[in-house]
Parts: sequence; C-alpha cells; structure tokens
Amino acid sequence: MTTEVEERSGAVEMYSWHEGMDFNPVEKVILERRSVRRYQDRQVPEKLVRRVCEAGRFAPTAGNCQAFKFVVIRDPALIDEIERFVGRLCRITSFLLDWRSSPLGRAAWLLAQATARIVPNWLHPVPFGAVSLIAQGKLKVFHGAPTIVLVLIDKRGVGYPEKDAYICAQNIILAAHSLGLGTCWVGFAEMLKYSPAWRRRLGLRWPLGIGMGIALGYPQGQPDGMVARELHEIDWFEGGEKRTVY
Ligand SMILES: Cc1cc2nc3c(=O)[nH]c(=O)nc-3n(C[C@H](O)[C@H](O)[C@H](O)COP(=O)(O)O)c2cc1C
Repeated sequence: MTTEVEERSGAVEMYSWHEGMDFNPVEKVILERRSVRRYQDRQVPEKLVRRVCEAGRFAPTAGNCQAFKFVVIRDPALIDEIERFVGRLCRITSFLLDWRSSPLGRAAWLLAQATARIVPNWLHPVPFGAVSLIAQGKLKVFHGAPTIVLVLIDKRGVGYPEKDAYICAQNIILAAHSLGLGTCWVGFAEMLKYSPAWRRRLGLRWPLGIGMGIALGYPQGQPDGMVARELHEIDWFEGGEKRTVY
C-alpha cells in the first residue's frame, strides 16, 4: 500500500527506507553533483532560472526570516565587467601578498605572515592559487557561465542571516543539478562588496550584503559523478556509551 505522498512522487522510492535500497533521486542529486567549470554557450531559459530560485526560497531560515534576496545577471557585458573588477582585486592581492611573484619581495612575505595570523584561512593554497590564476587572466571567475545568481544576505535576519543565505544557495545548487543544469559556488563574487560603485549598482546596501555568486548554465561534457570525500568519524552516544562510527 502506498501513501498519498508516494503516489504523488511517481512511485519512485521516496519518503521511506528499507535495508539495501538504492539511492533515491534526492540522494543521487546530492551525491553526484559536482562544481561545473565549463559551460555551453546557450542561455538557460528564464523560467528555469526562476524555478531554481524558488527552491532557494523554500530553504529553512532562522525564525523563518527568509533573510536573502536574489540578483540574476545575464548580460555578458555586465558579467565581463565583474570579471575585470575581480581580476583587478586579485592582481592587487597578488601584488601585496604573493611573495613568490610580487616585486615587493620580502615585504609581501611579511604582509602575508601578518594576514595569515589575522585571517588564517585566506592564504590556503587553493583559494590563494585561484587568486593568482585570476590575476594572471588564466581562470575566469564565473567559468564562462551565462547566468549568475547572486544571493544577497538581509542583515536584519534572525541570528546569523549569512547561514540562511548559504542554505538557500545550496537549495538552488541542488535543484539546478536535478534539472540538468550545472552550477559552481563562486566565493570570489563576494569581492564586489569592496567597491562602492558595485554596491550601488547591484543594491548591496544596508540591509543587504553579498553572500556568494552561483554560476549557472548547461554543463559542457559530463562533469558530474561521485567524488571521493574524506571519511568522517561520527561520535555516537547511545546506551550510556560513546562509539565511533563512519
Ligand atoms: C564557500 C564556497 C566558496 C567557493 N568558491 C569557489 C570559487 O570562488 N570558485 C570556484 O571555482 N569554486 C568555488 N567553490 C567550489 C569548491 O571548490 C567545490 O565545491 C569543492 O572543490 C568540492 O568540489 P565539488 O563541488 O565538485 O564537489 C566554493 C565552494 C564553497 C562552499
């Protein structure tokens, strides 16, 4: 006997679990989604973009405050302008902090040391390597995606509204993947907040601030598939004991 919910979901195995069952469609979307960094030239239909934003709107938020707003950018010229702006900031960052290439030499090394103490995660080799590639024009910030969704944070939200915006972005990313689109979370879009001109232009003014950018488009090739992840220990308290499970 099926429940009403099961009937509405087209009789795929959803909303229930039994030992040995295959991954259901939601799990597959979560497990197989990858960040997409190569996009086809064709644009995503407006209705589809609006549909994935709807998935964002239904994210859980503290106190149901829904502390976010979406900005959709689809003008190639505007995307290029943002790319150039972020490129400039990356060049300045490399000049000041990349002791391997900066003409400042030891002064850049000292600045990097100080930065690493104040904001330890900034100079991690992955983002720092990307800064260097963007600065040299070898990496596109939005990877050539035809649509960018900026998720703005409404700072009047309950508690930590940036968390609401991040969860909302993840809903968008998963819904987009389930509908055949590729996405990439673009933290570099946050750099827009350093420019008064961009803040004015994109409405990043109180109470709104930028959370992240999401590159959205049809992927080139087949980028998806399960990626190796580290095994994480889970501490499990039950029956008066603590166990470790994986
Ligand atoms: C907060 C955050 C910021 C990120 N910023 C960028 C970015 O600026 N550019 C980029 O190409 N990928 C970015 N990513 C994507 C990660 O690199 C990617 O999720 C990670 O390497 C795991 O790969 P996967 O998404 O394919 O599973 C970001 C992801 C998160 C969660």
